[in-house]
Amino acid sequence: MCGIVAYIGGKDAAPILLEGLARLEYRGYDSAGVAVTGKTGGLKLVKKKGRVADLAAAVPARFKGTVGIGHTRWATHGEPSDANSHPHLDGAERFAVVHNGIIENAEELRAKLESEGVVFASETDTEVLAHLIAAHAKETDELEDAVRGALARVVGTYGIAVLDAERPDRIVVARNGSPIVLGIGEKEMFAASDVAALVRYTRQVVHLDDGELATVRADGFSTFTQDARMTAKQPSTVDWEEASYDTAGHAHFLIKEISEQPAAVERTLSGRVDERFATAHLGGLNLDAREARAFQRVKILGCGSAYYSGELGAQLIEELARIPAHAEPASEFRYRNPVIEADTLYIAVSQSGETYDTLAAVQEIKRKGGRVLGVVNTVGSAIARECDGGVYLHAGPEISVASTKAFTSTAVAFALIALHFGRVHDLSPADGQRICAGLKALPDQIREILAQEESIAKLAGQYAQNAGMMFVGRVRGWPVAREGAQKLKEVSYVHAEAYPASELKHGPLALIGPELPTVAVVPDDELREKNLTTMGEIRARHGRVLMVGHSAPDPKYAEDCILIPKNEPELDPILLGIPLQLLAYHAAVALERDVDKPRNLAKSVTVE
Ligand code: AGP
Repeated sequence: MCGIVAYIGGKDAAPILLEGLARLEYRGYDSAGVAVTGKTGGLKLVKKKGRVADLAAAVPARFKGTVGIGHTRWATHGEPSDANSHPHLDGAERFAVVHNGIIENAEELRAKLESEGVVFASETDTEVLAHLIAAHAKETDELEDAVRGALARVVGTYGIAVLDAERPDRIVVARNGSPIVLGIGEKEMFAASDVAALVRYTRQVVHLDDGELATVRADGFSTFTQDARMTAKQPSTVDWEEASYDTAGHAHFLIKEISEQPAAVERTLSGRVDERFATAHLGGLNLDAREARAFQRVKILGCGSAYYSGELGAQLIEELARIPAHAEPASEFRYRNPVIEADTLYIAVSQSGETYDTLAAVQEIKRKGGRVLGVVNTVGSAIARECDGGVYLHAGPEISVASTKAFTSTAVAFALIALHFGRVHDLSPADGQRICAGLKALPDQIREILAQEESIAKLAGQYAQNAGMMFVGRVRGWPVAREGAQKLKEVSYVHAEAYPASELKHGPLALIGPELPTVAVVPDDELREKNLTTMGEIRARHGRVLMVGHSAPDPKYAEDCILIPKNEPELDPILLGIPLQLLAYHAAVALERDVDKPRNLAKSVTVE
């Protein structure tokens, strides 16, 4: 999705903006642009359809200025083109604006501005903002007031950065539903939509809240609200390494992130497993034992893979703590006027912490007085700040659009939450010890699975030749099957459907035949025999079966097998997902897909 970078300081802005934009390429985009100004006045602008490298090649040597803004655009209003790229200018070319999000009343505002004689140079909603700021600047000398005046007329979501050729000592940024983070340097300041663009220059960041604006100068910043009240912000430190934003010798970020999972899980577990009391320490939950016992239900909310990891979480909480738990897509929940119950604990899951639908669900719960915790990867993100407490994953930055290490770390975080809740309820110390030991075994067991990459790649090459694939699993295997299908379709574009194995006979069995192979997720648990029966039914219809599980069945049930180490039954689903990630990755490679940036998808969906 779109990206924003802004710089003000003593250096030449353009190279810093271009470097920052390159760091945001992973989010997906179709065009890019930069605008700079300086003490000599006047705006300089270059913007182009295409890659950041094309933009860098088009920036002339005389493109000088110590303050500037840059943007990578993912088209919403108007096709990808030079004209529709950001930054957008007002008619007098005094103001330059970059914008992430969607201005919902753009058409109405455009018509009004056109009736007043404004001529538009693009089809975008963003250009409306540039003209509105110019209109309000006629009534005030303060850039901040002009921006506030313009934003007051706008309905929709935005993260924006505004440059004023007549005020080269500042940039004004604003956030409403689309992230903006300030980066604090030495006599220089940065702003961006994603810390990825900042980590090369600074680790000290300030996250803006929705409805907040900031004036950013070379020597500092001030923040205020849309109604001009000053706000106080504390900088936080980003602990993610710059190296995390490189492929580090891997062919793609996706395989790098799959390979990083042992270390990611170690970080998620670090300091949290308490073997003495056979429980988990999760201080960030902000719940004492009495409060933790008082909840009668748990509702988990997330989108896409975050939702599927929430399904694994619900299962873990029910199994270990015996509290009824259920996961639901946040995108559905927020629109159905949900009943918020005082004795339900709500948990929002998000890698980015910026997914708009999940954030909106959290806000809806809080507005109705519910208690909501976050299981979030990105420290200081909007969802993390909005929640009443939670668990950070510490999985490290996830760059590839398809989530892998965050998915696994989320499942591990839920295992910790379930263990903690279990031990304040009726999970015995012996069972608690068993889960502690199982958790500690996970990183090495993931390493063992990753060691099978070559053979899984071979299978992926074969299975990728089919037009579609079915994924089935029962109970613990069912969320794993769902995530396996999601990964495959996302990165390889091979159609994949997931069904509970128990549901196959109720409809989808009609699809089964030699042209539709099935991945069956079959742990060695009490449901193995039932799963084998389902596999037999598929084989009887000449469907090819690839089984992922712990022990090879009679060959009549499955042509192919991926066997993984056994952990505790409750924790096995965490491991069962790993081979499916490798399968999806290698299917995508075999089909020569754009592995890290699948078509039509964005890393974080900050719009509705
Ligand atoms: C995962 O592979 C997907 N790209 C997508 O489903 C993702 O999990 C979803 O958009 C939620 O993102 P979040 O975790 O950043 O909230």
